[in-house]
This record gives sequence, structure tokens and C-alpha cells, in this order.
Amino acid sequence: LLQGSTGGSNPLAIPPLQVGRIEQGERVFRLSLTSGQKEFVAGVASPTIGIDAPYLGPTLEMRRGERVRFHIDNNLAEGATVHWHGFELPASADGGPHQLICPGERWSPSFEVRQRASLYWYHSHLHRRAGSQVYAGLAAPIYVRDDQEERLGLPSEYGIDDIPLIVQDRMIDGSGQLIYPSGMQARMMGVRGNRIYVNGTEDAVFDAATGQLRLRLLNGSNARFYDFSLEGGAPMQLIASDGGLLDRPHPVRSLRLAPGERAQIILDLAEGRPLRLVASSPDNMMGMMGGQGRGMMGGGMMGRGNDGDPSGGVFRILDIRPADTARSVRLPAELAPLGVPDPSLAVRTRRFVIDMGMMGGGMSINDAAMDMDVINERVPVGQWEIWEIANASMMAHPFHIHNTQFRVIERNGRAPPPLETGYKDTVVVNPREQVRVLVRFEENTDPDLPYMYHCHILEHEDAGMMGQFVVMNS
Ligand code: C2O
Ligand code: CU
Repeated sequence: LLQGSTGGSNPLAIPPLQVGRIEQGERVFRLSLTSGQKEFVAGVASPTIGIDAPYLGPTLEMRRGERVRFHIDNNLAEGATVHWHGFELPASADGGPHQLICPGERWSPSFEVRQRASLYWYHSHLHRRAGSQVYAGLAAPIYVRDDQEERLGLPSEYGIDDIPLIVQDRMIDGSGQLIYPSGMQARMMGVRGNRIYVNGTEDAVFDAATGQLRLRLLNGSNARFYDFSLEGGAPMQLIASDGGLLDRPHPVRSLRLAPGERAQIILDLAEGRPLRLVASSPDNMMGMMGGQGRGMMGGGMMGRGNDGDPSGGVFRILDIRPADTARSVRLPAELAPLGVPDPSLAVRTRRFVIDMGMMGGGMSINDAAMDMDVINERVPVGQWEIWEIANASMMAHPFHIHNTQFRVIERNGRAPPPLETGYKDTVVVNPREQVRVLVRFEENTDPDLPYMYHCHILEHEDAGMMGQFVVMNS
């Protein structure tokens, strides 16, 4: 019953679009966290969590420059938080572990949308339980639109030629139930599943009506990395990273996304041939088998069916069936003027070392595990800094910083690949690697209320691979 072996195909679920309502100059969204049920396998219901839905939630659409407000009712039997991943906003609105919404309570944060147009997302950030809540379904996309991007005339009709794809693996047991593994391997490597779902759909197919399709990929998995490609190796046009458009379209044959990362690609359907988006899981554990990079992920030690990759390592993400009438559309040669990040602007360098300890018993950043009462870094507002992130463990970690979109300067002294030439909020740090990013926090000072930086492998975050920083008046 591994992914792809069933041969079936199901229409891709597309999250409903919610645009909110304008009230007193703010765009207001009303959302409810609810428990529900979902059949991950037909006929077998598993308990889930969703936002206005049994599982996952609506895509929230907003514009750069406007004020948004959310009224979030927690109708769950447990506490929860809702974090706006990728946004610059006041710490009190961030939705991190300090903004707990108790059962039966409402949380009403508000902020100005400062972000460039892109795909962002919102998800649980509950202290020590982000992993299980996101896994149960507490996550959904956000679209930020802006004038600059709209002028380019890119495909942008939601659900027609502009589609969010939340890619998540889930562990389904022999009886068809969703389970959240909690053993040693899950704690150390993070929870990886045996089936892949896109917007909650397995073996998804999309019937396209246009000649050009814009896919917004979100790796919403707890721990699995994906190398996305088109079956047959055709190029995809990469147009955006976490924080919006790149300088120009970059043709890529393969695209790696770690948990928390996003990318946007444009596919040309004008030839009328069906396309299949597939993915494989790279090894993200080094050194377990003599430094060959073929470690526990490679399949030898763990075996299939437990944490094995579906379909022997390559699995279907989405089948796309073009319309006969599709016409080819040209992409603009230039997308957004990004400029080259200038490290000489930085007034200081801050160093972070990620580690896992022996057998994952010491998930830490700079030798400390997350402590809600400890401020690890005090960062002056308005100053450029280099954050230098090193990885002392044998496994790759996606490092996420709240309240900013940063630029990647280099990894181990090398220039970053296309996906990292734009704005990012999450960056992979491979074993023995050192990644330098240029970052600045432009406003929203609060000497007491922290933001987070952490590994976006959710079980690592939950185990303490996370730290806290405040943005201070300088
Ligand atoms: Cu997407 Cu601190 O999280
Ligand atoms: Cu990690």
C-alpha cells in the first residue's frame, strides 16, 4: 500500500480562498480551530485538527501595505497557537509559544502586511507540541499580493492557474489509521510518513485549463526533505523563494525544499502532454555509514514500511492534465530587482551552532535548549547583521528566523543556488556546513517579548532546537 502503487488518482483538493472582510480599515479574518476527522485511507477515519475545516484550512489572501486582523477561536480541547510564518510583525502578534490560546478562548492579533507578494503560511507553534498539532492538520497557506507582482501578469487566478501545494507525508498504519510515531527514530530524525499527501489528497491529479500553470510549493512536512522534479526531467521555471519573486525565472530540473521552505514554479502546458510532478527524499543524514552520505535515510538500516520511502524513493506529487486548447505564454525576462546583498553593511556577526547531542538527546542551539524564560539574543533594531549558522550534527537542519526575510550570502564560502538568491526565512544548513545570512529587523521593538529562531524539523523544535531573541531599541 505504498504511495503510487495504488494507481488511483483523486482530484487535487484546493484550500478554499478566504479574503476576509474590510471593517474599519482593516481586513478581518474570522477563523476557528476545530477538531475533526479525515479519511487518509478511504473508509477509515482518523482524528484531525483544522481551521474552519476538519483538516488544514483556508488560504488567506491579503495585500501588502494593508492592516489585517484575525479573530481566532480555539474550539479544540487543548491549547494551541497560530504563527504567521514569514511575516514581520509585532512580537505580540507573532503566534509563537508565548501567544497561547487556551481552549474556548479567542485571540485577535493585528498587524500591517509588510511582506512582498509570496506564499507564506500559518501553523501551530505550541510549545513542545508544534509537531503533533501541525501533523494533525493545523496548517494552511497565506497569499500576499502586491502591485509590483501584479504588473508582471503572471498566472494568478487562484485555483485555476495559481495553485498552492502543501506537501506533507503521513504515517498510515496497516489498518489505515493516521499515527504520530514517537519512538527513538522519530524523535531523532523527526517524524516521516509512508504516504504523501498534497493539500490532503493522495495520488492527486489536476485538470488544467490554461497554457501556463503556477505552482506554489510549501513543504509542510514535519521532517521530510523533498527533491521535486518533473518526470522525464523537463525544466521548471523557478520564479520565487520564501519571500517572493526572484530577479528572473531560473530554469531548474530539480528543486530541494526542506520543511518550512516554499518555492514557486511555472510549468508550460502548451504542448498538451500530461506532466507528472514527482519527488524523492534526499539523504539528510551524513556520516552514519562511513561518511558516504548514505545514512539511515538510504534505506538500509531502517527498512521500508517503517520509515522507508514510498515507492522506493520516488513518489508522485501531482499529475497535471493539460487542456487541448492550451496556448503558450511568455514569462517576463525579469521579475524583481533584488540587488546583491552586501555583507559589508553588517555591523556585527552573530554565531549559531546547531547540535543534536548523543543520539538526539541534546537538541540545542549554542549548547542551550529552548527555555521560555531565557532570552538568548538581544538584537538592536535597524542594524544589518550577519547570522552565521553552523551545523555540528550529522543531519541537515532547516534554520528558520521569525520576523524577517533575510538574504543568503554564502554556504561554506560558496555562492548560493538559484532558490537562495532571493528572500528567505528558512535556510537549510547541511552537516559540517556554515551558512551566512544578512538580516535586519526594521521595527517592532519589545525588550521583553521574544521571537524564535529554530530548526523547522518540528520534532527538533519541540525537543528544544530553538532559541529566543528580542528586538531592542538601539
Ligand atoms: Cu514555521 Cu517558528 O515556524
Ligand atoms: Cu533539526
